[in-house]
Amino acid sequence: LHGSMEIRENELYIGGVGCRQIASEYKTPVYVFDEQLIIDNCREYRKYFKAEENGNRVAYAGKAFLPSYMCRLMKEEKMCLDVVSGGELYTAYKSGFPMENVFFHGNNKTREEVEMGVAYGVGKFVVDNFYELDMLEEICERENKVQEIYFRITPGIEAHTHEYIKTGQIDSKFGFALVNGDYYNAIEKLKEYDRVKLVGIHAHIGSQIFDIDPFLDEVDVMMNLVKETKEKYGIELTDVDLGGGIGVYYTDEDKPKAIKDFCEAIIERTEKTCSEIGIDVPKLVIEPGRSVVANAGSTLYTIGSIKEIKDVRVYVSVDGGMTDNIRPSLYHAGYECSIVNKMNSNTDNKVTIAGKCCESGDILISNVAVSEIESGDTLITTSTGAYGYSMSSNYNKIPKPAVVAVKDGKITPVCRRQTFDDLMELEL
Ligand code: LLP
Repeated sequence: LHGSMEIRENELYIGGVGCRQIASEYKTPVYVFDEQLIIDNCREYRKYFKAEENGNRVAYAGKAFLPSYMCRLMKEEKMCLDVVSGGELYTAYKSGFPMENVFFHGNNKTREEVEMGVAYGVGKFVVDNFYELDMLEEICERENKVQEIYFRITPGIEAHTHEYIKTGQIDSKFGFALVNGDYYNAIEKLKEYDRVKLVGIHAHIGSQIFDIDPFLDEVDVMMNLVKETKEKYGIELTDVDLGGGIGVYYTDEDKPKAIKDFCEAIIERTEKTCSEIGIDVPKLVIEPGRSVVANAGSTLYTIGSIKEIKDVRVYVSVDGGMTDNIRPSLYHAGYECSIVNKMNSNTDNKVTIAGKCCESGDILISNVAVSEIESGDTLITTSTGAYGYSMSSNYNKIPKPAVVAVKDGKITPVCRRQTFDDLMELEL
């Protein structure tokens, strides 16, 4: 049970609203977001990352889930925002998100996107490569603007859920590598340019990481680079952006650490390393996506066909699947599920939850223990808040589900369900 989830007489409630009520009012599939949990996560991050105290910034990575609703909530919670495309930038702009608090990422920003970012006045461009650097200088020159930038670097640390490696890491599509001197070549280039102003460096070492150590190594690499950049080039980097990647709970195999532990360890290490190498402590930026929204989101489905293949498997099919949650088929990601009104009656009964797409790989959860199931029951999969809706598709011309937020017993609609006409809207 995450956040405000509670069980009242065998039924699951989120934000004080019964899941059966949500399913009947909004139909299924529907994504349900626990607004208080999103807020609590933001506050936790800002508190332990010392946003007020030290001026560090927490930028929510919009790729995880970015309707207007999130832009407004992030603004209210004084979060910054990491965007990676014209579409995300446009959503933030249209939602009234303060552009000076936007970090614009991406390894192949188009000319239109760069122009848009400059016109909107985004706070920082996280410049990924020479092509972008040249284009940004040219556009700023034309528009008579000066743009603050970070350089994205590949720091030679790659972390995955259960391991991490320190490598030369030239082979990445992202950023300027340190090992082959590209970072320094980019700095050299700045001598010719006066419209782009380098104020920081950025790196992102991976996603769904449970271990704090790779982040601490990243801190060391980055702080040493700040020192070197000043000594060699006289450039004072005031900001260091450490990217996102903090892991969350999906199933009981996952053992995530608290936001507090990550933040405190990172800050402590930064201060220690800076004092050892004799530099001022820069302002830190962190870019969590998953750990802000994953556990706050759940998906409700209605169970349809139940097919028992004796001694082999029971397929329980739901009215959604890989179109609203691609993660199981794309990454073999694990999830947990329950029947929302049979919360206290789990059995050893193992079933496989299948989606409705015409694809054998459209399986949401294999061999999961659930209570007695009947067609018509409402099933919930938890922790679908990050990279669920944002990676959803219209495969098989299945409309995207509705999205609602719940808090204090109230339901707020966030996105309406797509209609069949929406699906034909683009056709000429
Ligand atoms: N910053 C940068 C530069 C990133 O590339 C990412 C994620 C983040 C921040 C946020 O990372 P998070 O805190 O959410 O781990 N679709 C995949 C995840 C891809 C993440 C890509 N970059 C999934 O569903 O697991």
